[in-house]
Amino acid sequence: MTAKVIDGKAFAAGVRAQVAAHVAKLAEENGIQPGLAVVLVGEDPASKVYVKNKHASTIEVGMASFEHRLPAETSEATLLALIDSLNADPKVHGILVQLPLPAHLNSELVINRISPAKDVDGFHISNVGLLGTGQKSMVPCTPLGCLMMLRDHHGKLAGLNAVVVGRSNIVGKPMAQLLLGDSCTVTIAHSRTKDLAAVCRGADILVAAVGRPEMITGDMVKPGATVIDVGINRIERDGKAKLVGDVHYESAAAVAGAITPVPGGVGPMTIACLLANTLTSCCRANGLPEPKGLTA
Ligand code: GUN
Repeated sequence: MTAKVIDGKAFAAGVRAQVAAHVAKLAEENGIQPGLAVVLVGEDPASKVYVKNKHASTIEVGMASFEHRLPAETSEATLLALIDSLNADPKVHGILVQLPLPAHLNSELVINRISPAKDVDGFHISNVGLLGTGQKSMVPCTPLGCLMMLRDHHGKLAGLNAVVVGRSNIVGKPMAQLLLGDSCTVTIAHSRTKDLAAVCRGADILVAAVGRPEMITGDMVKPGATVIDVGINRIERDGKAKLVGDVHYESAAAVAGAITPVPGGVGPMTIACLLANTLTSCCRANGLPEPKGLTA
């Protein structure tokens, strides 16, 4: 069997088009423009690229983009004051503080200063708690993107065995909550799991989010399973720089029913879902109906 390739790049373009259409309708019918504020502290090269891409995508769907670039030595008080002003700004519906922050800043304190309603990353403790108790919340972008692709591929997910490998706050834990919300039987596996291969082979849905290049191999995949690869690992092979996932693609694709490639799988969905969350936040703030198919 050769797996169906789930084209995240095309799927993300579809999500962005849906968001853009909804943004145009908001402008026409309500005179409202959703706005996203992105805060970057310091000069981390990868973060600078992400922030630039976020800005370009935000403009492309017709939203307002507010970029705040602060020097690496910015004090906590200055950063918190900026967040307070963004919380109070009615033109700003989403606030994202790019992580990682420089070491002298307390990320938890900073993230929890963002108004939960504007927390388009879904990292605020209130949103984590709302998601965990099955209430309406802002949902972290990467797992939301994975959920959208899984729903699209499977239709209903109820009753399927889902194994999430990785227990991070950004991906693994919220992913597990979302799958549970769709009535999957969910296992969270991690570095201390006994016989990881056997656990993974029980999965109808296998989500790999461990940050270890090509760790999940074909012998760990149940025939016909759907494999979602969240990993983005830069490695060197045969003297060349290469981007690989947490899944060994060739061996897994030979066994799986469907698989996301790296690059071009989960990656492009993250920014698309950030825009979807900003739109959702704007609709909620204005008492308007939420966009269909773009929320958990
Ligand atoms: N850095 C890497 N990924 C992310 C993300 O999803 N959100 C934020 N705020 N920072 C990140």
